[in-house]
Amino acid sequence: MTAPDFPKWKKNNRKISMVTCYDATFAALIGRTAVDCVLVGDSCAMVVYGEKTTIPATMETMIRHTEAVRNGLPDAFIVADMPFLSFRKGASRAIDSAGSLIRAGADAVKLEGVSGNERMIAHLVGSGIPVMGHLGLTPQFYHSLGGYKVQGRDSGAALKLKADALRLEESGCFALVLECVPESLAGEISRSLSIPVIGIGAGREVDGQVLVLHDLLGLTGFNPRFARRYLDGATLVKDALDGYCRDVASGAFPSEAEAFIS
Ligand code: KIV
Repeated sequence: MTAPDFPKWKKNNRKISMVTCYDATFAALIGRTAVDCVLVGDSCAMVVYGEKTTIPATMETMIRHTEAVRNGLPDAFIVADMPFLSFRKGASRAIDSAGSLIRAGADAVKLEGVSGNERMIAHLVGSGIPVMGHLGLTPQFYHSLGGYKVQGRDSGAALKLKADALRLEESGCFALVLECVPESLAGEISRSLSIPVIGIGAGREVDGQVLVLHDLLGLTGFNPRFARRYLDGATLVKDALDGYCRDVASGAFPSEAEAFIS
């Protein structure tokens, strides 16, 4: 998959599956699946580092995790998140930040919001860096939004979201993540755009879905209504580790076959 494929897939009604990934081990596993593309999300601040929000993710964090994911997934389409404020310090800083993520192995960058970003997005796109937008619940706006809440519920907010989505398409974004918005509004936005809308908590009327890998695999205690669990990973990991401890305690591990005898 490439950036120009995104609008083509939408035109052909082909749904896009995306998951987050932060390390080479999971990246290699994803490479053996039908997942279409991968997001090195700034959610790594929460999932990997145990922070409360995505805000502590820095450029260094995102570069290192992008390199790791690229090492495990040499051929996949990888989008890397531009972390909090990394694209808000003028066009030249934004291009440096985005360029570092591309050099680290990303095929595209994702950034949150639209106000004040349009010229910068056009500049990135004009410089050869595909940009994915992100609207709705934008976690980098945690403090201004007053927490993690469904967005676009009243008519004013819905109108603004529709206008913002159009502005992102006009600025040159090749796709858009729409997070935690009512299904009918997400559908209206999708139908008004020629670029695909990839939803997370945005219902069924969009062009693709993205989930945080650790939520999908049931590895976290986070269980929002939109994040379907395809595995009870936490129980599998716990049972495996308890089995290991039992075997160490009883002397069943290591066996002769697992030892260097001479
Ligand atoms: O950082 C992230 O994981 C994301 C997804 C929730 C879309 O932006």
